[in-house]
Amino acid sequence: MYPLRRNRRLRTSEAIRSLVRETVITPNDFIVPLFVVEGKGIREEIPSMPNYYRQSLDLLAAEVKTLWSMGLKSVLLFVKVPDNLKDNAGTEAFNADGLMQHAIKTVKNACPEMLVMTDVALDPYSSYGHDGIVGNGEILNDATNKALAKMGLSHAQAGADILAPSDMMDGRIYEMRTVLEEEGFHNTGIMSYSAKYASSFYGPFRDALDSAPADIQNVPKDKKTYQMDFANRDEAVKETLMDIEEGADIVMVKPGLCYLDIVRDIRDAVDVPVAVYQVSGEYAMLKAAAANGWLDHDAVMLEQITAIKRAGAHMIASYFAKDVVRLLG
Ligand code: PBG
Repeated sequence: MYPLRRNRRLRTSEAIRSLVRETVITPNDFIVPLFVVEGKGIREEIPSMPNYYRQSLDLLAAEVKTLWSMGLKSVLLFVKVPDNLKDNAGTEAFNADGLMQHAIKTVKNACPEMLVMTDVALDPYSSYGHDGIVGNGEILNDATNKALAKMGLSHAQAGADILAPSDMMDGRIYEMRTVLEEEGFHNTGIMSYSAKYASSFYGPFRDALDSAPADIQNVPKDKKTYQMDFANRDEAVKETLMDIEEGADIVMVKPGLCYLDIVRDIRDAVDVPVAVYQVSGEYAMLKAAAANGWLDHDAVMLEQITAIKRAGAHMIASYFAKDVVRLLG
């Protein structure tokens, strides 16, 4: 009891604060999302994501070497697909000679030890901007699963270490795991976006990849029939436990900051590592506020990342990864 116990004693200096600190951020915490485009020598800033770029394969090679030298050892690849290669079935997604397949090889060639994760969903390849195949005004679950399994296999064949399905179809983890096992890819892992919400924070990402749902008749205008309702909490645990049963090695909550209650629920409920995706809109919000001088960029960034880890994340996919590691020194 006071005055014998005074909590402020443990806050009197940076030395004691660092001694009793419960959550510490290191480069090992991060997965770095990377956007890849066709072409040569291309490094385009994404307008709604200041200081974040789409890069062509030649520059991707240099980028991953830089990341590795900073202690950043995992990347998550996304590709921007030209309109003429998009169709409803996402056919280009399993082209062995496609941009993603080349990107995987480029990273592995440049930096063999880099852990390569790949986004598995049809939206960048879909003429309708949906994560699955559209038919009769809906997203066809089982047909999409077959396509995702094929897409995942093609990434594994190109050398991906971990597949990251971000589509939220039912049963897609089982379908993908089954195909990987049949084809001998026992060591290719699956990081499932298990609790992925229908969030408006994905806007800048969809700008980056030109992958927003199209405004076409008889095509759903949003992703609410597959991504989760942001009002739901218990459902996230249900989704996640099912993905683990189906063979997910790592589970993910997405977005990050507005969903830290979900992160803690899942961390307490599962026995596999938990990832959190701090998404594009979260990045854009801080960049915009900082550009206006309204928030201290670095201080808020560190507070946010620390909060995500404190909530229970074992790893964080974040566009701030390089900024944080530079700040840590
Ligand atoms: C693709 C995918 C999305 C994101 C990651 N994978 C967009 C979406 O589901 O619409 C969002 C990432 C971000 O906003 O940073 N399915």
